[in-house]
Amino acid sequence: MKAITVEPKKPGTATFMDVPEPDIHQGSILVEAVAVGVCGTDVEISEGKYGWAPSGERFLILGHESLGRVIDPGPTGGFKKGDLVVGIVRRPDPVPCPNCAVGEWDMCSNGLYTERGIKEIHGFMSERWRIEPEFAIKVNPSLGILGVLLEPSTVVAKALEQIIFIGRRSYWEPKTILVTGAGPIGLLGALFAKMFGLEVHVLDRAEIGIKPELVRELGATYHSGSVKDIGFRPDTILECTGVGAVIGDCIEQIGANGILALAGIGHGGANRSAALADMASATVLSNIVIFGSVNANKRHWYKAGQWLAKADRAWLSKLITRIEKPENFMSALRRTPEDIKVVIQFSDI
Ligand code: BGC
Repeated sequence: MKAITVEPKKPGTATFMDVPEPDIHQGSILVEAVAVGVCGTDVEISEGKYGWAPSGERFLILGHESLGRVIDPGPTGGFKKGDLVVGIVRRPDPVPCPNCAVGEWDMCSNGLYTERGIKEIHGFMSERWRIEPEFAIKVNPSLGILGVLLEPSTVVAKALEQIIFIGRRSYWEPKTILVTGAGPIGLLGALFAKMFGLEVHVLDRAEIGIKPELVRELGATYHSGSVKDIGFRPDTILECTGVGAVIGDCIEQIGANGILALAGIGHGGANRSAALADMASATVLSNIVIFGSVNANKRHWYKAGQWLAKADRAWLSKLITRIEKPENFMSALRRTPEDIKVVIQFSDI
């Protein structure tokens, strides 16, 4: 079968090549790939900046935002031929650490977890893949290809859940949320926060185009300037840009007792001596919590599935701005400013 592979840490090695059929050890359910979403992590892996091949192998099959159709449900009950499924990304570490032992592999504390398409296990950008029944999530069939948005939704579900947990440290009734960065995570965050009943504000560089349109269609407010100019102090911020200057502005702008969730992964920055002590003082004096959130466990997968199923299909479908064939994977990995979610489609839905 064909798969999109990469030699991790070697830029320019991504290719669409013949690979063996998926190994039975990867799971008893055999799935035909329908679509795989492309995210910043895939781009980083293809640029040689991240990613690990399975032990003893040179190549890693890319892809962690899956959607597939069950071809063979295997011996365990619960799944049938034709079911639409998505594969959970992370596997618990083998030790296991206490978090992995209780199924909270998203909080793995020894770093020995593995991740499909990212860290030491093959991903989903292949014509067929296998999955263990306990790591396969059934998708509401009415979502169709929109089921490919489940994985990024789980990342959002976790970040929002953590905000709620942290909020319980005191009396707290959040009314407003600012989302910085109108990519897939930011827009799904805005959608779910709106479903929660919050007043939602989204800030992005884009001044015109699909991003402001989608935000306004949600009944949320769009800002394209600086965080410092939004005109209010948000109770919560979901930061999805990973840009140092934006993060600094968020710390200065957030309201008293505010919670700032960092969900973007950025690198470096021109000014390492940014007024960190001033930011820390603001954080101390206003009881601010700044926390990072990555990955998701089964609870978040379940919640994200529920929320996606309730969301407006017409709005969700506008998040998929481009669908590419697997052989055009290079173009799928190249993002344009108008792209929100690019999807590689392997077979008809
Ligand atoms: C994925 C997460 C993963 C993280 C770090 C993200 O792109 O959505 O599941 O944990 O990368 O590898």
